[in-house]
Amino acid sequence: MNTFLSLCMVSAIASVLLPSGAMAATPDGEAIFNRSCSVCHSVNPPPKSAPPVIPLANRYHMQFQTKEQGVAAMADFLEKPDVAKALDPRAVSRFGLMPLIPLTDEERKAVSEWFWDQYNPAKGGGRGFGGGQRRLMNQ
Ligand code: HEC
Repeated sequence: MNTFLSLCMVSAIASVLLPSGAMAATPDGEAIFNRSCSVCHSVNPPPKSAPPVIPLANRYHMQFQTKEQGVAAMADFLEKPDVAKALDPRAVSRFGLMPLIPLTDEERKAVSEWFWDQYNPAKGGGRGFGGGQRRLMNQ
């Protein structure tokens, strides 16, 4: 019995200190992008077969006040791409609707956070890319 108890103790301590932490780690957004998105999305223009990341991130920053809102909207789009949810319906006409990429909730959130963080106003692509029309549509 004592041996059993001490084994329990050891495994309880190990589970606190050891790999469970690593397994629960947040997925790496950039790694997900490289694996599942970069085949269609370049980071900078020119586009591959989808709008590049930086102009997209700039649009999300123009559209949403906080990272939380932007990430939530992007994760929602990724869960089920739909022209009604797309920030830029003209991109859908140009490139076709994005296919559904199977990801977990955590992966969608992580990759959306990474996308959001690529914001770079110096690289443009936001205004004059439908931004004005978009604001009107959302009032
Ligand atoms: C097979 C090609 C393809 C892959 C792979 C792909 N996308 Fe897309 N994505 C598109 C196309 C095409 C569009 C533009 C049309 C649209 O909005 O549906 C798009 C649009 C988007 C948008 C803009 C949505 C909006 O609000 O207008 C985001 C954000 C996005 N992709 C993120 C991702 C992420 C994150 C991944 C990886 C998990 C990914 N995409 C993988 C093709 C792809």
